[in-house]
Amino acid sequence: MALVSRTPFVGGNWKMNLTHARAVELARAIDAINSASGNRSVDWAVFPPFVHLGAVAATLGERSHVGAQDCSAHSDGAFTGQVSASMLAEIGCTSVLIGHSERRHGLAESDALLSRKLTRALDASLIPILCVGETLLQRDSGDAHAIIQSQLRGSLAGHDELALTQLIVAYEPVWAIGTGRTATPDDAAHMHRTVRQTLEDLYSARFAQRVRVIYGGSVNAKNAAELFSCEEIDGGLIGGASLNATDFGAIMTAAAARVGQ
Ligand code: 13P
Repeated sequence: MALVSRTPFVGGNWKMNLTHARAVELARAIDAINSASGNRSVDWAVFPPFVHLGAVAATLGERSHVGAQDCSAHSDGAFTGQVSASMLAEIGCTSVLIGHSERRHGLAESDALLSRKLTRALDASLIPILCVGETLLQRDSGDAHAIIQSQLRGSLAGHDELALTQLIVAYEPVWAIGTGRTATPDDAAHMHRTVRQTLEDLYSARFAQRVRVIYGGSVNAKNAAELFSCEEIDGGLIGGASLNATDFGAIMTAAAARVGQ
């Protein structure tokens, strides 16, 4: 009997890593591991740099498991260097990260901007993976829950429940990203409950129960099973460990075990 009815989701955020050839090789290796495991109970996707998206989508074929790390807040026009959500959909992307902390904090992307990116993603029928997370300073000041609520409220402003049926929220505490310091399962679960409560306050209990809330921040092949054993943690957004096919495969297996609980 499954613990929860939400299908786990595991994303591999490759960030700005890998040559073209290595990206295709990694996609092939992940696909092979996943096919060999026969596991169909986990939704998964990789998020390569823009320039590798077409080749990775072609490598993964019909069952496209490819997403983009960002999209423009505009639909088209004179926006040098930007890539639109519809262009991403056209080359085989099925999902997109919105508001990853390396953009929220690193590039000062505001909730208002992210709300517009969300509009574009939904218009292009991409699954939006909205990232939220507090910095260490915010956590140490006791503001973590308020920050998450505020990021969700700001980024989801103007979006109604019906348009968001595919929404995934990734809770990624900034202090856990790439640091080797993972949130404890209890800590992460507590924050995920805040995410779900905020969604319930904004929309409805039914909606909040259906949205997948995944955790990101130093997830690896060793700690994934413990994190995913929490009812509140519906999978993970993986950075460093997703660059290794065996590790990423093990993390997907850990997510699949959740379904059998
Ligand atoms: P790490 O798994 O490398 O900590 O990165 C997490 C992340 O930012 C995924 O989007």
